Amino acid sequence: MSSITHELASAIRSINDYPKPGIVFRDITTLLGNPRAFRRTVDELVQPYAGLKIDKIAGMEARGFILGGAVAHQLSAGFVPIRKKGKLPHDTVRIAYSLEYGVDEMEMHVDAVKPGEKVILVDDLIATGGTAVGAVQLLRQIGADVVSCCFVIDLPDLGGRKKLEALGVEVRTLVE
Ligand code: PRP
Ligand code: ADE
Repeated sequence: MSSITHELASAIRSINDYPKPGIVFRDITTLLGNPRAFRRTVDELVQPYAGLKIDKIAGMEARGFILGGAVAHQLSAGFVPIRKKGKLPHDTVRIAYSLEYGVDEMEMHVDAVKPGEKVILVDDLIATGGTAVGAVQLLRQIGADVVSCCFVIDLPDLGGRKKLEALGVEVRTLVE
């Protein structure tokens, strides 16, 4: 494990049996509250995209907003919130999805991305990939060119990364 991976991994707290029995919840609030770890996380997420012309960062509610906003700022890109249903005021596209511990629906404004715009999807964690696959489908539905997806944490045993790659999307992660 590289020293940066080790530093970030040690800043993440694990909580057993949350939100349901059998789930080991990877809690990034400890990483976010650590100034050095938070800065290094954002730097590592951004570094592969330095110099690329990216129009928008899309982030999933809620943890994807925190990291996606910081990445958007660093890349001088716009930010697109992908929200849980019923929160966005204008016309939306909506999709049902399942994740490691539940099912839900998410939405995005129909005009959040113009056809052909280059978008990177950012979230804290990929587990089953249900959330990220749903987000890529929404983005593609309105014509976005999803050039990459990045996450702080990958839970490889749950197979999400492979599902995204099967859609032809590049996936970058920092910690397994
Ligand atoms: C978490 C996490 C990802 C998703 C990953 O979000 O932030 O978005 O689960 O799981 P998956 O790969 O199995 O789909 P959650 O829905 O718990 O929302 P939150 O950020 O509001 O806590
Ligand atoms: N989202 C899906 N699975 C998760 C986990 N194990 N920890 C934190 N967030 C998650």
